[in-house]
Amino acid sequence: MASATPMQNLANAVGQHGLVRFIEHYAREFPNAHLKDLIVDKLGPNREMEVDGRHVINFGSDSFLGLDQDPRVKSAITKGAEAWGSHNGASRAFASVRSNEVAEAKLAYWLGTEDVLIYPSVTLANMGALPGLVTKRDLLIIDEHAHNSMQEGAKIAQANGVRVVMFRHCDPNDLQRAFDEAAEYRVAVVAIDGVYSMTGALPPLAELNQVCLRNNAILYVDDAHATAVLGCQGRGTVLDALGNYDNTLVVGSLSKGFSCYGGFIGCAKEFKRMLKIRSNTFIFGGPVPPSYLDAICVVCDILVSPEYEEIHGRLRRNVRHLVAAAEAMGLIVLGGETPIVSILVGEEEMTLGAGKYLFEKGYYVQSVTFPAVPYHGGVLRIQVNANHKPESIDGLLAVLVEVSKKFGFPRSGGNIAA
Ligand SMILES: Cc1ncc(COP(=O)(O)O)c(C=O)c1O
Repeated sequence: MASATPMQNLANAVGQHGLVRFIEHYAREFPNAHLKDLIVDKLGPNREMEVDGRHVINFGSDSFLGLDQDPRVKSAITKGAEAWGSHNGASRAFASVRSNEVAEAKLAYWLGTEDVLIYPSVTLANMGALPGLVTKRDLLIIDEHAHNSMQEGAKIAQANGVRVVMFRHCDPNDLQRAFDEAAEYRVAVVAIDGVYSMTGALPPLAELNQVCLRNNAILYVDDAHATAVLGCQGRGTVLDALGNYDNTLVVGSLSKGFSCYGGFIGCAKEFKRMLKIRSNTFIFGGPVPPSYLDAICVVCDILVSPEYEEIHGRLRRNVRHLVAAAEAMGLIVLGGETPIVSILVGEEEMTLGAGKYLFEKGYYVQSVTFPAVPYHGGVLRIQVNANHKPESIDGLLAVLVEVSKKFGFPRSGGNIAA
């Protein structure tokens, strides 16, 4: 009998991984409710979406301001492609097209930092910068629920010999405990999210920063979900909470509220110079395509203009309406300060079933289950956008009334739905 090839052996080995077995078990167990890997055939201007011939309203987009549909942003991408071609196919360590410099200067002006360094994504920013900032003599402390990309960055740092320690989610006392238990270090970096994207939770930035300052540490804030959405002119969570960037390196997304592509770190010029040397993902990978950099400049102009208030006002109204009505129904709403509104469902089967029910009624929301959230802590994750029509929010709410009764969602009074 022919023995298995190395490729078959590898496939078997990967297939035995706990996570692969777990996800495939879900897919087998709930084949009709497992709304993952959806293929979208068409998008409309107000989050209309066609999937497998079904028309639904998409409540799963991070493009919170709806700028992906803005004619000025689209036209910048078209013109940029004409001027620069589709891609500048070399690492920026060798050469950057001028648009990088222009976009970084515009981003720094808007954000209020001395400078900005653009990376191809937030993931690559975190996986490049975090291991680049610390060495064996230093300490890296990370919130237990920090985004996966920071956890992966921390693993690289750890493999390089850096001491990596976790602290309890959003808990300044436990952060102090982590410092107290650490042996001597030269300097420390504390990595957290500005918005925890599965629940919409906001960390106590001022308290965490105080703990950092007392312990010779800086705060590294991945503000991906707040970029362009929270804070004055959409600058994110840090400046409003702390009043300055003196003790923070702030990471932002260009792919979510910005509706373009990439990530960035706002920092002092000296950090930009050193991050270019110390971030392997910057040195050994390709850049954001030039046309997207031109579009980023257009979005920066919108964010610093009075128009931002009008766009953000639409987003705010949509979020408030949804949250107020869901709370009035007695549902347990997690978040609500940001456009990520999660409704607690609980059991995995119920969470998937509820998502499927909404989908069949014409509304797509993400059914989020373990391991993205705690086991039996499934949520319906609703992402509200500025370009959702008010009638779409009302339509979603009407189906939420039905589905919460049908599946017996937990209620804020502690009882189960009638
Ligand atoms: C906090 C946080 N960081 C990073 C990312 C990943 O960003 P990117 O797609 O730019 O790699 C996400 C994506 O949702 C996020 O929520």
